[in-house]
Amino acid sequence: MKRVVCVAGARPNYMKTKPVMDALEAAGAEVVLVHTGQHYDEAMNGVFFRDLGLRPPDRFLGVGSGSHAQQTGRVMAAFEPLLADLAPDAVVVVGDVNSTLACALVTAKAGPLLAHVEAGLRSRDWTMPEEVNRVATDRVSDYLLAPSPDAVDNLRAEGYREDQVHLVGNVMIDTLLANLERARAHGVLAGYGLTPGEYGLVTLHRPANVDDPAVLAGLLKALGEIAGRCPLLLPVHPRAAGRLADLGVPGGVRLVPPAGYLDFIALQDAARIVLTDSGGVQEETTALGVPCVTLRDNTERPITVEQGTNVLAGRDPDRVVATALRVLDDPPAPRRPALWDGRAGERVARVLLEGGTARTRPRPTDRPAPAA
Ligand code: UD1
Ligand code: UDP
Repeated sequence: MKRVVCVAGARPNYMKTKPVMDALEAAGAEVVLVHTGQHYDEAMNGVFFRDLGLRPPDRFLGVGSGSHAQQTGRVMAAFEPLLADLAPDAVVVVGDVNSTLACALVTAKAGPLLAHVEAGLRSRDWTMPEEVNRVATDRVSDYLLAPSPDAVDNLRAEGYREDQVHLVGNVMIDTLLANLERARAHGVLAGYGLTPGEYGLVTLHRPANVDDPAVLAGLLKALGEIAGRCPLLLPVHPRAAGRLADLGVPGGVRLVPPAGYLDFIALQDAARIVLTDSGGVQEETTALGVPCVTLRDNTERPITVEQGTNVLAGRDPDRVVATALRVLDDPPAPRRPALWDGRAGERVARVLLEGGTARTRPRPTDRPAPAA
C-alpha cells in the first residue's frame, strides 16, 4: 500500500482534491489530507468540506493570509517537518495557488514523488502570481497530470520527459458532474428570487481586476450597462469586498456573500451568462454549456475558448460591454472537451499507483546539455 499526502488550502483546491482522494482510497492507498489554511473563512473553506463530503483535514498548518513570500514561506516551514513525520511515498498538489508551490518545493527536496494535478496550463502572463506557481511547480514535479491536450503540448514544448506527462482530464469536472443534481435541488435560486435563464452571474478576484480601484471602477461601470439587459448577481470574494464597498455598485448588480459550492454550481447552471476572471469557472461553464465572458486578456485554459463556451473580453469596459451583449444575443454553442468525463480522478490514481517509487523512478532531469 502506498501512503499519499494530498494538499489543499484554498477555495479552488477542494473540488480538485476530492476526486483524487476518493480514487486513491478506492484503490487501496492510505491518504493523508493536509490543509495549509491559506483560506479559512467559513464561506471560503468550511462550506466546501460539508458540500463536497470532504472529511476534516488530517493535518492543519493554519498559515492564513499574508504577502506572497510570507504565505509561501509559512507553508514551507510548516510542511517540511510534517512531511518528514509522515514519510509518504508521494505528494499530490493541485492547481496554482501559493500552497501548491510551497508544498511542491518542500516535497522536491525531501524525497517523496511529487504529482501536480492540472499541470501544463500556461497563460504566458507573468504578471499573474499563478503563472509563476504553475511553471515552478511543474518544474519540480515527477508526475505532470494534464487536464487537456494544450497542456500536454506546453509540457512537451518545455522539454519534459514523455513518461512524466499524462493526459488525465479535468478533476474539477469530476466533482461538478458528481454534484450537479444535488446542486440543482439545493434551492439557491428560490432563496435569491431568481428565475432560471433570466440573470447573469459574476465573479471577480484576480489582483489585476480588483486591486486597482480605477480598473475595478471601469469593470463595475461595464457591469452596470450589462445589467440593463440582464440583472447580475455577484458573490463577493473577500479580496474584493472592501474595494467594492468603497466604490459602490451600479443598479441591477446585486452583491451577495461568497456562495457555497453547491449553490454556486446551481447558480452557474441556471445563469443566462457568466462573467468571470476565475480559472475554474471558465471550465465549469464550459462543462455546463453556459456562456462565459472572461474578464481577462488571456487564459491558461484555451480549450474553454476553442472547444467550450468561453469568450475572452479583456478588461476594457467598452469591450466588456460589447462582448457581453454579443454573447447575450448569440450565445456560443455548448461543447465539452474530451476526458472531461467524470473519470479524471481515477486516471490520476492509476498513474500514481502504477508508477515507480522514489527509489526506482527517474527524477525530473534537465534537458540534455547543448553539444560543446
Ligand atoms: C488565491 C489564489 C488565487 C485563487 C484564489 C481563489 C494565490 C497566489 N492566489 O487568491 O490563485 O484564484 O485564491 O479564490 O495563491 N481572505 C479572507 N478570508 C479568507 C481568505 C482570504 O478574508 O478565507 C482575504 C485576506 O484579506 C487575504 C486576501 O483575501 O489577504 C487574499 O487571499 P489570498 O489567499 O492571499 O489570495 P486570493 O486573492 O484569495
Ligand atoms: N466558487 C464557489 N463560490 C463562489 C465562487 C466560486 O463555490 O462564490 C467555486 C467555483 O464553482 C469553482 C471554484 O470555486 O469550483 C473556483 O474557485 P475560484 O474562482 O476562487 O479560484 P480560481 O479557479 O480562479 O483559482
